[in-house]
Amino acid sequence: MLLLSFLVAAALAPQLRAIQLVSLPPISSSPVGASQVVDRALASLSIEPAYLTSYGGNNSSPNVLTRALMQHLESRTGVGPDLRPGGITIDSSIFNPDGPALVLTESSAGGVYRTNFGPAYYESLNVFPNSTMFVINVNLGNETIKIARDELAAALEYIGWDRIRAFELGNEADHYAGGSRPAGWASADYTAEFLGWTAVLTHNLSLPRAIFQAGSFADDPVPGAAMTTVDLINEGVDTTGVIKLFNQHMYQYSTCDPVRNALATLPNLVNHTNITSYVNLWNPQIAAAHRQGKEFVVGEYNSVSCSGKENVTNTFGQALWLADTVLYSASVNISRMYLHQGATLVLQSGTQANTPGFSWYDLWYPVDTERYGVARASPSFVAYLFIAETIGRSGTSRISLVPITQQPDIALYAIWDAQHLGRLAILNMAHRDVSTTADEAAALAVSLDLSGVIAAAGVPATGVTLKRITAPGMDETDSTSTVWAGQSYADGSANGVEVTEYLNGNAVEVGASEGVLVFLRASS
Ligand SMILES: *[C@@H]1O[C@H](CO)[C@@H](O)[C@H](O)[C@H]1NC(C)=O
Ligand SMILES: *[C@@H]1O[C@H](CO)[C@@H](O)[C@H](O)[C@H]1NC(C)=O
Ligand SMILES: *[C@@H]1O[C@H](CO)[C@@H](O)[C@H](O)[C@H]1NC(C)=O
Ligand SMILES: *[C@@H]1O[C@H](CO)[C@@H](O)[C@H](O)[C@H]1NC(C)=O
Ligand SMILES: *[C@@H]1O[C@H](CO)[C@@H](O)[C@H](O)[C@H]1NC(C)=O
Ligand SMILES: *[C@@H]1O[C@H](CO)[C@@H](O)[C@H](O)[C@H]1NC(C)=O
Ligand SMILES: *[C@@H]1O[C@H](CO)[C@@H](O)[C@H](O)[C@H]1NC(C)=O
Ligand SMILES: *[C@@H]1O[C@H](CO)[C@@H](O)[C@H](O)[C@H]1NC(C)=O
Repeated sequence: MLLLSFLVAAALAPQLRAIQLVSLPPISSSPVGASQVVDRALASLSIEPAYLTSYGGNNSSPNVLTRALMQHLESRTGVGPDLRPGGITIDSSIFNPDGPALVLTESSAGGVYRTNFGPAYYESLNVFPNSTMFVINVNLGNETIKIARDELAAALEYIGWDRIRAFELGNEADHYAGGSRPAGWASADYTAEFLGWTAVLTHNLSLPRAIFQAGSFADDPVPGAAMTTVDLINEGVDTTGVIKLFNQHMYQYSTCDPVRNALATLPNLVNHTNITSYVNLWNPQIAAAHRQGKEFVVGEYNSVSCSGKENVTNTFGQALWLADTVLYSASVNISRMYLHQGATLVLQSGTQANTPGFSWYDLWYPVDTERYGVARASPSFVAYLFIAETIGRSGTSRISLVPITQQPDIALYAIWDAQHLGRLAILNMAHRDVSTTADEAAALAVSLDLSGVIAAAGVPATGVTLKRITAPGMDETDSTSTVWAGQSYADGSANGVEVTEYLNGNAVEVGASEGVLVFLRASS
């Protein structure tokens, strides 16, 4: 019996191990039909104001983990990610010039009802790279323009114009109706208030033209959405010269209610078809902003709203979701994506699945907590390194999705620096869990023939190098075993020996639930 089963296994094995060979469609040596020039701050951050000091610390006690992780990003693109201290807590915030850094008023259930901040709050920003630009989100929810005016004046005093990307009034005003505004408060009401406030603030603070970002809406821009960029523009929001750019938020899944919670599974998240069809919902909004000559950004996003989900968003699968979502968004001309960080706010919904604590989707846990243990990077942090090296530091890169029609689980992006094909970012979004057997995994791996690409790029195969983003499985939750180029970043430093690979002949192998960045020439 033993011998027989050995023979059966041996007979099956070559078939199971037959790695799938994939040939690529032609890829142009120059960026024909590619995206706009990709902003090096494409992969940016949004941090809930009520938790900013947890992330940044202050001058006498800076958060060294945050500082180290941000330096890894800056060293790869040449600029730090943008930071938007913003989110739902801004709409109940007040700047107090004589107060301490941060005072939260909380309900017994942990809902944050008031966020008071003082001058020392801005010290938290000093752990971010000096090249980081800030989006200044201020209180619109309270409907008291003096509160917003004082918050903008404080940002000008404590941050200064050379570090300010844009001003932003309020957070997710499409959810105000029936709360901080009367039921029925609609898009035209937002537009009227936006025009009135920006006129007063521009006069009061002598603001330059084109400094505000409009929008910041929560709901997906599907037909029937209460407020969208298209609506605002039709209502005349961009007629007074105050707008710099447009933005809306993006959360593909949610744990805010049981129906959506059931959909928020790891196999649903790690899916290239789902990701691209979801991001495509924003295409009319992007086009509308561009017709006005304005950038479109995703001012706040993450995979699962209401603070993520245990064993879904604190996994390596979140890294795969991030890499595919951000690169695809860049390919359709979204300029920057601000990944939201923070903690569960019990006031978000009455039927949400999460209890208070740092969000399950955070890219890193900045301080020690009971729930997560010591402060550390989460398993998804390596995705931001992968994206940063995909964009590179040239400042001239453009990106295109290269559809592989016979393999819908392969996400392949080509990146050009100026006129030269420079890199390929390849994600195999087929599902490999920690418990997947080696034979099952081998059957899901692909081998891509790069002969045509190498010829188009005009480089010798021997000069092509590879770096891999991988983990024991997409459900891996231990950030010491989720790696980029052989190194993990759990404690903020690169642990392990950096691994750079070479082509196998003219081919590159990509396992299920991992990615490879192919450098066709030395990165500039
Ligand atoms: C993105 O922008 C570039 C140029 O800026 C343009 O050629 C391309 O068609 C745009 N892509 C989409 C999907 O609109
Ligand atoms: C800086 O942070 C430390 C540690 O949290 C705290 O004790 C100190 O009061 C803070 N300083 C300021 C100026 O907020
Ligand atoms: C920013 O620049 C200042 C002045 O050169 C320097 O002291 C500080 O360390 C820099 N900050 C970071 C995060 O590198
Ligand atoms: C608006 O701000 C004032 C302080 O100026 C505060 O007393 C009031 O409670 C706030 N309203 C809401 C709904 O947060
Ligand atoms: C701006 O607003 C503040 C606070 O309401 C007021 O004290 C100041 O006089 C105003 N300045 C101008 C130029 O309108
Ligand atoms: C996403 O992908 C899964 C397959 O993994 C599919 O069953 C599901 O319906 C897709 N759509 C959404 C919205 O998750
Ligand atoms: C998450 O996974 C761990 C380890 O398998 C398990 O102990 C825990 O109960 C899971 N939590 C949820 C909410 O599924
Ligand atoms: C991804 O979702 C599509 C449906 O949207 C499905 O056809 C495909 O099999 C899914 N891929 C994986 C790896 O589950």
